[in-house]
Amino acid sequence: MIRKAKEEDLDKIISLEMNSSHPFYEIYPERRKGIPIWVTRRFNESNNEFFVYEKNNVVIGYVGLKKEFPAPESGEIITLTVSIEEQRKGIGKELMDFAEKRLEELGFGRSFLYTGKENPRAQSFYGKLGYKKINEFPDYYGTGDVAFLYGKWLKK
Ligand SMILES: CC(C)(COP(=O)(O)OP(=O)(O)OC[C@H]1O[C@@H](n2cnc3c(N)ncnc32)[C@H](O)[C@@H]1OP(=O)(O)O)[C@@H](O)C(=O)NCCC(=O)NCCS
Repeated sequence: MIRKAKEEDLDKIISLEMNSSHPFYEIYPERRKGIPIWVTRRFNESNNEFFVYEKNNVVIGYVGLKKEFPAPESGEIITLTVSIEEQRKGIGKELMDFAEKRLEELGFGRSFLYTGKENPRAQSFYGKLGYKKINEFPDYYGTGDVAFLYGKWLKK
């Protein structure tokens, strides 16, 4: 079941992110220390919405969206994680479908997201969901790493 995240889900979301298999943290393990700060900041931003995927009352995935993006009528998927044990079961896709529907409901026609060059799994995941790579941003994260910008028309 996917539902809007509540205040008491924040710790669970942080824990999911701390234990995620994101390749960025395999390259820079010490950067995991910064996770509680950026997750909390994004969670509390008034222009963001977070949703959790719950299975048997356990949060096993989450997605965050921003209700703006610097392109006309566009929103952004800002974060997405599924717990390692629950990957490749379609949960990431369900979370993305849900977030895209929410963006549509809010009146947005396009969805954008950034993902790291070091994350080929995410690139193939987003490609499968119909996202197209638009651009590359050297040092997007301030770590020297390149980010790819992906976008998708929601209504076409
Ligand atoms: C990226 C992520 C959210 C995908 O979630 P998931 O629940 O495993 O994805 P799904 O099961 O919904 O996969 C949907 C499709 O995406 C593609 N895909 C997913 N994982 C893949 C992988 N490891 N390798 C290649 N393709 C993959 C497949 O085409 C898959 O469909 P299929 O299983 O029918 O072949 C998950 O791997 C994750 O949490 N990774 C760590 C955090 C992260 O990188 N987040 C993205 C940050 S930008």
